[in-house]
Amino acid sequence: MEVNKLSIVNSLSGSNDKIFDHLPYLLQDLWELGGVTNCIIQLLDRNLGSIITSLNILELCSGKGAVIISLASKYKCSGKGIDLFEPFINNSIRESAKNNVDHLLNFEIMDIKDAVNTLRNFDIVIYGGDTDVLGNEVDSLSKISQCCSDKGYIVYDTVLKSIVDGDSVFNGTGLNVIDSSVCDKDELVELNKVNNSKIRRRASELITKYPDKKELFENYVRAQEEESTELENDFILVSFLLQCDK
Ligand SMILES: C[S@@+](CC[C@H](N)C(=O)[O-])C[C@H]1O[C@@H](n2cnc3c(N)ncnc32)[C@H](O)[C@@H]1O
Repeated sequence: MEVNKLSIVNSLSGSNDKIFDHLPYLLQDLWELGGVTNCIIQLLDRNLGSIITSLNILELCSGKGAVIISLASKYKCSGKGIDLFEPFINNSIRESAKNNVDHLLNFEIMDIKDAVNTLRNFDIVIYGGDTDVLGNEVDSLSKISQCCSDKGYIVYDTVLKSIVDGDSVFNGTGLNVIDSSVCDKDELVELNKVNNSKIRRRASELITKYPDKKELFENYVRAQEEESTELENDFILVSFLLQCDK
């Protein structure tokens, strides 16, 4: 399978594909990569409550599995995570066993482009706008909705300048906005602080090992920190619960 390295690098705040082989080392101490796990749990709890236990959930671009493993641990629901980055899928398999939910979940190395053409009938599909390989937001959401069962749900995380009427954001997607949840800013700031200091420490180890690549690693750390600052100061992170109308 041809791996779109730049899609993976870009989704993890990088811009130079030379960082690709070093990502597992740089990100080894992180589990939650998107920062929205609690926000998603609140949203699902509030709207679907105990029925989540009987649902089958798909997470697209699931990273190391933090979101779907947390959901399976809390609700004992079943699910699948797909991600294009093999080391992250291996991490997810290990973490799901550690959390005793490996009988409920399966993980697969897959490009989201193939996932939307083959995976069907999930009650909830979770997606964090991680890549543009499916096109713009409207195109991506309509492709992703093919993975949902009739009247199934999409949990979609996105960044916005301010709180806006959800209907205006999803106009043209054929999806109904059921609810939304703004992620807690303090929690996000704390997670970014902890994650960035872990990445900085691993980057300095890599600089010692590969001094000729100092600039590559420094640029990666800087991009992470700039993205965090921008997200914390200029945007809000919102999870939307959308329902398919089919
Ligand atoms: C920011 S991480 C999100 C991880 C996870 N949702 C979380 O909150 O921890 C983005 C993920 O998208 C994955 N990714 C990027 N492009 C992809 C593609 N074309 N197909 C599948 N996964 C992709 C990356 O490998 C990475 O794990």
